[in-house]
Amino acid sequence: MLAEGKSFITLQGMSAEALLLAVKELAERPLPDGVAPTVRDGRAVATAFYEASTRTRLGFQFAARALGLDVIPLDVSASSVNKGESLTDTIRVLADYGIAALILRHPDTESMTVAMAASACPVINAGNGAGEHPVQTLIDLSMIYQRFGRLSGLKVTMTGDALHGRTIHSLIMALSLFGNSITVVSDPGLRLSSDLGSSAVRMSAPKLIETEFLNSGILKETDVLYMTRVQAERGSANRPIIMTEKTQQDLNPNAIVLHPMPRTVELPEWFDTDPRAAYLHRNRIGLGVMTYVLGTVIGGGRKA
Ligand code: NCD
Repeated sequence: MLAEGKSFITLQGMSAEALLLAVKELAERPLPDGVAPTVRDGRAVATAFYEASTRTRLGFQFAARALGLDVIPLDVSASSVNKGESLTDTIRVLADYGIAALILRHPDTESMTVAMAASACPVINAGNGAGEHPVQTLIDLSMIYQRFGRLSGLKVTMTGDALHGRTIHSLIMALSLFGNSITVVSDPGLRLSSDLGSSAVRMSAPKLIETEFLNSGILKETDVLYMTRVQAERGSANRPIIMTEKTQQDLNPNAIVLHPMPRTVELPEWFDTDPRAAYLHRNRIGLGVMTYVLGTVIGGGRKA
């Protein structure tokens, strides 16, 4: 649920109407420009990233400043986490010091539940292990909406690490609500279905097709090609699905290519000059989404 005073953890249970409303509202909002001059009501938010991040971590820090909020970044590597402190105890410190919201990324899928129990303020899920990443999905949906003017009736092909890719999991949940047809192309060892943990994702998309090769038949039909990297840090050593010159030639000329970033070998930089390389707009649109999410959760007052 995305609402004032509530944690934003999952897209499960969110309705198609609520998602579409959020995406439409996002399309009409100006992007935040710069940093607000004053700290609003003396309020601060904390970012706690237990996993590496460039865009989401910095994006939320910029978003907070644009909303006139102070930002307290927890430096995990210099904290008592190194001494074995539990997530609950660390979050209690932030909560006791009086933050207005906690933006958390953590390798455990259960971390958001633990954090919500320990935190007096709302928690925003910035990625929970191989679980979900609802904020990235709002970014992806915004990019799809801005290109096609709708979120339904699309053929979406997702490639890479479906087993560990939390952005794929959340995007499947969201797109299934709108009756899109989804094909997931991955090495057999990285399939959704090989992970019991993603059964909720599978159940949300009964008509989803999983296959091994990104062939020309799929590419010609694709409206949205959503590429992801193979997540070596979660133990994946499987074959990536790579953008080749043949992929470029076979891909529907009216398609868009998205990628949550960071990219590795699967999406070479030479593709950046292709007009279908929509992922190049991800950072600007992402900043707008993160400002929207934080502003909604914090509530009450100026929204950038
Ligand atoms: C993704 C993530 O952290 O899940 N990045 C992001 O937040 N945009 C994708 C990834 O790490 O591969």
